[in-house]
Amino acid sequence: MNKNIVILGTQWGDEGKGKIVDCLSSDSSYVVRYQGGHNAGHTLVVDGKKIILHLIPSGLLHDNIIGIISNGVVVSPSELIKEIKMLETHNISVNKRLFISNSSPLILQYHIEMDIAREKKLGISALGTTGRGIGPAYEDKIARRALRIGDLKDEKTLSMRLEKIVSYYNHQLVSFYKHKPVDYKIILRDLLPTIDIIYDMIKDTTSILQKAIKDKKKIVFEGAQGSFLDIDHGTYPYVTSSNSTIGGVITGTGVGPKNLDYILGVTKAYSTRVGYGPFPTELFDNIDKHFSNKGHEFGSTTGRKRRTGWLDTVSLCRSVYINSLSGLCLTKLDVLDGLNEIKVCIAYKNIHTAEIISYPDINEWENIIPIYETYPGWTRKTLGIKKIKDLPYEARNYINRIEEITQIPIDIISTGPDRSDIILVRDIFY
Ligand code: IMP
Repeated sequence: MNKNIVILGTQWGDEGKGKIVDCLSSDSSYVVRYQGGHNAGHTLVVDGKKIILHLIPSGLLHDNIIGIISNGVVVSPSELIKEIKMLETHNISVNKRLFISNSSPLILQYHIEMDIAREKKLGISALGTTGRGIGPAYEDKIARRALRIGDLKDEKTLSMRLEKIVSYYNHQLVSFYKHKPVDYKIILRDLLPTIDIIYDMIKDTTSILQKAIKDKKKIVFEGAQGSFLDIDHGTYPYVTSSNSTIGGVITGTGVGPKNLDYILGVTKAYSTRVGYGPFPTELFDNIDKHFSNKGHEFGSTTGRKRRTGWLDTVSLCRSVYINSLSGLCLTKLDVLDGLNEIKVCIAYKNIHTAEIISYPDINEWENIIPIYETYPGWTRKTLGIKKIKDLPYEARNYINRIEEITQIPIDIISTGPDRSDIILVRDIFY
């Protein structure tokens, strides 16, 4: 039986993971965010109401579930509280069912200022970060100077360490980046009231999960971003600063690989990318407009227009391999409704040597063009369809071809933004 399921993105994020986590976690006991921070944006539509979560696990919308923000996540206390309060306006309380790891590094004002200052200095070479301080917060973790959630429990030491770290940051911000300094007293003043609110949520989440596994509880691990934004396996340096591929679950929670029963790769039926960096199947034509408008492809964290393109099965196959995927969930199939033809990238070709490349070295991205297979589109709507047999023949054909190329099953298909717009081809919690 599959008890513990990982749900992660196989592309550049924004695959629609939030909705899938929300659907699959209704049947589970725990839902865990294990990497990233509030750079993520998970959009959920519940009874016609849109809820965007950045930090709190999406599964928490079901009131019987315990949510965990584990050690791999970088946490901004102010953003966390903002989100808790936003949920309360929807009558969703996280009281006694949200726990945060004492080892999660904090994101504070100096991380955000540093993120912004660096992007500004990079000019046209900027990465297009979300400006949320994610990179600098992970740097602090690796440099072993981070303030962590557990440090909030000792105000005196916190204040001393904060003063030191702020002077380290201000030196760089002011002298090198010619940016405004931050004031540790203001940071402390804003931080202290947040401690009371989250104090009881601070736990050793690894132990909580270990016990859950022992008690045979179902756990959903909720990925953020996508495989090609991974710090190791992504299109470096145009990546985020965490491991959004499968390894992030293990290091980010303290749950070992033997306890991960099923790994679901969420894949959009086409591709999008927000921010800069390589994107082989990128489009700049009317199809881009179609994807943008019909798919509402604007970032849920920054509001930026997402770049769009055809499905890239070369990188998808790599994602299947890197993440040891058990199956795929194909999302936003309905966005393809009404297109005359649909293209699928099946290889890359080097424009100088004409060599066919199954996966280019990162330095070759600019020298490759995609090679496509073209399939007929469909005119009938797939929006809201709940059974695979009700899909148009051409849509089933498209799905079969993706399964053939990737050699893994498409177990779930999402056919619209609502919770109920879903085809469960196979029960993955069997
Ligand atoms: P950072 O994570 O803010 O440092 O941004 C690094 C890169 O990751 C940028 O290209 C961002 O646009 C991208 N990114 C970060 N989070 C997400 C996400 O949740 N969806 C899509 N792209 C993201």
